[in-house]
Amino acid sequence: MTTYQAFLPVLLRRKSKNNLQPNIMSKSKTAFFCRNCGSESPKWIGKCPSCGEWNTYNEEIIQRGEKSSTTGYRTEKIPILINEVSLQDEQRIDTHSNELNRVLGGGLVPGSVVLIGGEPGIGKSTLMLQIALGLENQRFLYVSGEESEQQIRMRAERIGLNNNLCFILTETSTTNILNQCEKLKPQIILVDSIQTMVSESMDSSPGSISQIRETTFELLQYAKRTNVPVFLIGHITKDGSLAGPKVLEHMVDTVLQFEGDRNYGFRILRSIKNRFGSTSELGIYEMNNSGLREVSNPSELLLGQHDELLSGTAIAATLEGLRPMLIETQALVSTAAYGTPQRTCTGFDTRRLNMLLAVLEKKCGFKLGTKDVFLNIAGGIKVVDPATDLAIVSAILSSNIDIPIQSKICFAGEIGLSGEIRPVNRIEQRVSEAEKIGFNTIIISKNNLKAAKSSAKNIKIEGLSKVEQLGKLLFSS
Ligand code: TYD
Ligand code: MG
Repeated sequence: MTTYQAFLPVLLRRKSKNNLQPNIMSKSKTAFFCRNCGSESPKWIGKCPSCGEWNTYNEEIIQRGEKSSTTGYRTEKIPILINEVSLQDEQRIDTHSNELNRVLGGGLVPGSVVLIGGEPGIGKSTLMLQIALGLENQRFLYVSGEESEQQIRMRAERIGLNNNLCFILTETSTTNILNQCEKLKPQIILVDSIQTMVSESMDSSPGSISQIRETTFELLQYAKRTNVPVFLIGHITKDGSLAGPKVLEHMVDTVLQFEGDRNYGFRILRSIKNRFGSTSELGIYEMNNSGLREVSNPSELLLGQHDELLSGTAIAATLEGLRPMLIETQALVSTAAYGTPQRTCTGFDTRRLNMLLAVLEKKCGFKLGTKDVFLNIAGGIKVVDPATDLAIVSAILSSNIDIPIQSKICFAGEIGLSGEIRPVNRIEQRVSEAEKIGFNTIIISKNNLKAAKSSAKNIKIEGLSKVEQLGKLLFSS
């Protein structure tokens, strides 16, 4: 034993003697939490050592009550050999929603915790209420800290589904919620939203990082102990001031993101993390007057219905996750009224548009430097797939010379800085989707020709190697 350790009890006793208010001091305890990643520190620091962000530490009271509800669940475990762990066939719960089942990797895993994040008003509560009401004869507990019973009932009327075993609890205290769960024994639980929940063992306000961590931990413990799956709804704000689902991502099993443009009906449910399945699956919905409709064929929704040919539009055969989609891209090229030309994009990266314009200027000799270029992806969705490049360039060329592209042509190709048309992944899927929708020609990279031809039956495939060849192919006849 070192000298310091020998004196430690004495030092501690002295310290508490000097302390005039030992009870108060021992109770209120604060810590600093990073707003961005949720890491904890006993003192304020300028730069977060875990995520590298500056000035993100906030002080929060983390006074723990006498009895922590979480400690009761901890039992001592002994190590066992991995080969001796029994391998049961994992039973998945059918959520009665094809799109949600697909995103979850084939159904809901018992005891898993699924976080659904998304901007306010995107339709998270609607989606989950619809799932709750669609699950007939399953005891579903819908916990809401945001809406009243009447509001939820009104929404249920709007959705028009009925589940006789869907219970509603408007409560924010996790202790009360877990008590009710013990009595009701629900088969699935939803908590809307985790930012409104409070744990009695914490003194900080709802939505603070320590509260979110504690309440999630309590619900997680319940899920693991009882094998009941729990859905959590989490808010994301644009400026990230609220403790966002980033903190939770590490704790939960699955993170789904519900996204879309609020001005359009199209919604995508994307998997960001999934311990029980792939993250490249996605679910597609359309918001209408009676809730969310599952969309099994997104291309039909995204392709504009035009009777006559319009200049400036081109169809891209893109992939979202693993799902092929045909999307309409629209461009408008007009003479710049002011000195600096405008470049405006909706649903596409403006920097990438600038790059494509620079390639067109250099390789095809278009004087786009004096033109305004507006670009729009129809349906309010955002595309990041580089295979959209070829369609975008074609739409720009078409608008520039004001000649429409023939209606049954679509495109799939990436454009490199020297104007070469590069091959894209999963070309077979793109070609067969285009063929299924009724296109008769697809223009792709020459290097993709071999793979594409293997899956094509009634569709003509044109392979190009350079962007210069595009104008001649499209507009010469
Ligand atoms: P909501 O589920 O409350 O969003 P979140 O929980 O993500 O904040 O959805 C709100 C929007 O959905 C609201 O603007 C109205 C719209 N909506 C419909 O268009 N049709 C419907 O049937 C329902 C229930 C909602
Ligand atoms: Mg909501």
